[in-house]
Amino acid sequence: MDVERREFGDAVVRHVGSDDRLSEAQHRIANNLALIAGYTRLQATRLQKAGRPLSAREACIALEEVAARIETVGELHRLLSGAPGEGEDGVDLGRFLAKLCASLMETVSFAGDTVITHRDAGGCLVRADQATPVALIVSELVTNALKYAHPTGVAGRILVSCRPAAGGLEVEVADDGVGLGEGFDPHREGGLGFRVVRGLARQLGATLVYETRDIGLTVRLTLGADEEHRVIPLWPDRG
Ligand SMILES: Nc1ncnc2c1ncn2[C@@H]1O[C@H](COP(=O)(O)OP(=O)(O)OP(=O)(O)O)[C@@H](O)[C@H]1O
Ligand SMILES: [Mg+2]
Repeated sequence: MDVERREFGDAVVRHVGSDDRLSEAQHRIANNLALIAGYTRLQATRLQKAGRPLSAREACIALEEVAARIETVGELHRLLSGAPGEGEDGVDLGRFLAKLCASLMETVSFAGDTVITHRDAGGCLVRADQATPVALIVSELVTNALKYAHPTGVAGRILVSCRPAAGGLEVEVADDGVGLGEGFDPHREGGLGFRVVRGLARQLGATLVYETRDIGLTVRLTLGADEEHRVIPLWPDRG
C-alpha cells in the first residue's frame, strides 16, 4: 500500500473506531448552526423594527457580525475535528481564543487599526460544550469593543485574557475606550448583543461583571465555580 492510501486507511479506522464521537460532533455542529440561524433571524427582526433603510456601513457591519459568529463556530469545529486526540480531553481555551482574536482582527473590516491581543495564563481547559458559548460571548464583546469603544475612530487596544481561578476559569475582554454610558445597566439593558451574552452566560452557569473605570470597559466572565458547571480539573484529584 502506498503512503497516501495507508494514511487514508488509517483515517477511516480512526473514524470507524470513534462513531460516538463523530455523531456527537455532528449533533454539536447542528446545534451551533441552529443557534447562529436563530441569532441571525433575531437580528433581521430587529433591523426590520428599526423602520429605516440601513446605511452601507451599517449593512456591512451587520453582515460581518454574522460572518464573525459563523467563523467562531467554524474555528471551534476545526479544532475539535483536527489532530487525533484534539478536543477529546477538552478544549484548550487559551489557544482557541488566541486564534479567534487573530481571525477577528484579520477579517472584520470595522476593526480598523485596533490591536487585539491575547494573554493566556495556561491550563484553561473547558469541555467542548462549554467552548462554544464562551467563544460566542468573547466574539460579541470584542465586536462591541470594535464598534463602540472609540467613537472618534482612533485605533484602540483590546485585551482578551483567560486564567484559572478558584474552582473555575476567568475570561476577560478589556478595551481602552469610552466605557459604558452612565446609568446604562448591561445586566438588563442593551441590544441583541448583551441579551445573547446574558443568555449564554446563564446557560454556562457563569457570572458576568462589567467594570467601567477611568478608562474603557472590562467584562469578566467567571465559569465553573460551582459543581454543576464545573470545568475540567487541571490536575486529577489527589484527595
Ligand atoms: N465596549 C464598549 N464600549 C462602549 N460602549 C459599549 C461597549 N459595548 C457595548 N456598548 C454600548 O452598549 C450598547 C449595547 O450593546 P449590544 O451589544 O447589546 O447592542 P449593539 O452592539 O448596539 O447591537 P447588536 O445587537 O448588534 O449587538 C451599545 O449600543 C453601546 O452603546
Ligand atoms: Mg453588540
